[in-house]
Amino acid sequence: MDTVNTLFLGKVVQYFEELPSTNVRALEWLQAERPPEGALVITDHQTAGRGQMNNSWETQAGANLTFSVLLYPHFLPLQQQFALNQAVTLAVRDAAEVFLPRSPQIKWPNDVYIGGKKLAGILIQNQLRGLVLDASVVGIGLNVNQTEFSPHLPNPTSLRLECGRPLELEPVLHTLLSHLETRYLQLKAGRQDELLLDYYSHLYRFQEEGLYRDRQGRLFRGRITGVSPQGKLLVATAEGERAFANKEIEFV
Ligand code: BTN
Repeated sequence: MDTVNTLFLGKVVQYFEELPSTNVRALEWLQAERPPEGALVITDHQTAGRGQMNNSWETQAGANLTFSVLLYPHFLPLQQQFALNQAVTLAVRDAAEVFLPRSPQIKWPNDVYIGGKKLAGILIQNQLRGLVLDASVVGIGLNVNQTEFSPHLPNPTSLRLECGRPLELEPVLHTLLSHLETRYLQLKAGRQDELLLDYYSHLYRFQEEGLYRDRQGRLFRGRITGVSPQGKLLVATAEGERAFANKEIEFV
């Protein structure tokens, strides 16, 4: 690898040609020797990638970025842990934008979308010590050069499909790590209000009227008004403001 233009992210690296899951490997590394903050696990071929809500993450060998970084956000009280998701999601969005002709969006809680299609997924696994976050494994899957996807995936896309040309993985990785470090330092500096405003400014359907389905299968119209500190989606509806956890609401 070229040297990375960061202060601490990606300075210590474990690289594998093939690996079941970079998140699992990073957790093992954390347990075994607690490497320095910013340590990176990356593979060319992730064979059993984990997604949110026990889903899997499928990726073509050698085509995309699949990696995890270890962060130690001791400064973040437990009830504010969603702020880390916001910082990471913004970073992935910021980095993707560098390679795209138009601006990608954030789909709550932490997917990066472009034109209604999913470009990247993020899985953050937190370790708690008392009431603070002791360690976080931040797993990122960014579709870079894949052009064909399994038909059961809802709406996948890649940077290549969106910008019309193949990209080298390393510059994309370095761009991503650099944006991730910037957003993380913004969080660490206590600039959470700024992060929230940036998150809202890129949030899909923010303050727009839209159609949703709740867990009981009921369709309703609503307008996203924000996200709570715990990460619940706040939606203004005819019955007043409702708060939804992940998978309690579906965008229709
Ligand atoms: C999702 O959208 O469901 C989240 C997907 C997260 C996938 C990444 S790929 C690198 C890291 N290792 C994993 O096993 N998962 C994450």
